[in-house]
Amino acid sequence: MGPAHERIPRLTTDRLVLRPFVPEDVAELVGVHAEESFWWYPLRAAMTTEQTMSFLQRTIARYDTDGLGIEAVIDRQTGAMIGWAGLAVPHFLPEVLPAVEVGWRLSGPYRGRGLATEAGRAAVDWGFIAGGLSRIVSIYEPANLASGRVMAHLGFSPCLTTRHPDRDEVVIVTELTRATWEERQRDSDRPSYSTE
Ligand SMILES: CC(C)(COP(=O)(O)OP(=O)(O)OC[C@H]1O[C@@H](n2cnc3c(N)ncnc32)[C@H](O)[C@@H]1OP(=O)(O)O)[C@@H](O)C(=O)NCCC(=O)NCCS
Repeated sequence: MGPAHERIPRLTTDRLVLRPFVPEDVAELVGVHAEESFWWYPLRAAMTTEQTMSFLQRTIARYDTDGLGIEAVIDRQTGAMIGWAGLAVPHFLPEVLPAVEVGWRLSGPYRGRGLATEAGRAAVDWGFIAGGLSRIVSIYEPANLASGRVMAHLGFSPCLTTRHPDRDEVVIVTELTRATWEERQRDSDRPSYSTE
């Protein structure tokens, strides 16, 4: 088996591709990270170019150290990077560790079309099917209703209310266990992704 980053999956859904980040993504990522709303929760500000450069470096390094990490979300129609999504270790919230989190962030024009739910479902399904996980968490600030709705769509339910240690903001931790996921799978008619 090759290095961990080679095992980070490429997931194709109806409208999206989720694929591992590469260093060459920096320019496009700087563009989406420059939107204030993209990072409003939790930063209350856009990310600078320097912050994005270290974010990208850290993300790619964690493919090896954590064995997983968030992925670039590509619009299949245009090839544009429209945000990121996927599984990661929530290092920012030590009290929930060990854990794997699913997260999502999309550029403004791409919101409100079910794309975060589509990306999140693919990541979660891959985590249970190929990743062998027994539980996935997802974490949001209560005011971030859209993110909470995506979690609800995917079957996550609240399990802990706590505070972001660096920012003192309330966050709600939600979880999806393998048992609940399996139960929901019975109603799904087709796979949410392919690895072609
Ligand atoms: C959270 C986010 C990824 C959702 O993306 P999306 O593609 O619009 O999500 P979906 O279309 O799959 O679903 C959004 C749901 O939120 C609802 N929603 C959207 N904006 C909302 C708002 N301001 N208030 C309440 N609900 C809202 C939608 O109606 C939809 O729910 P429904 O299907 O039950 O109607 C997107 O808003 C985003 O990128 N925000 C900025 C980054 C961010 O905060 N990420 C999450 C960090 S925890």
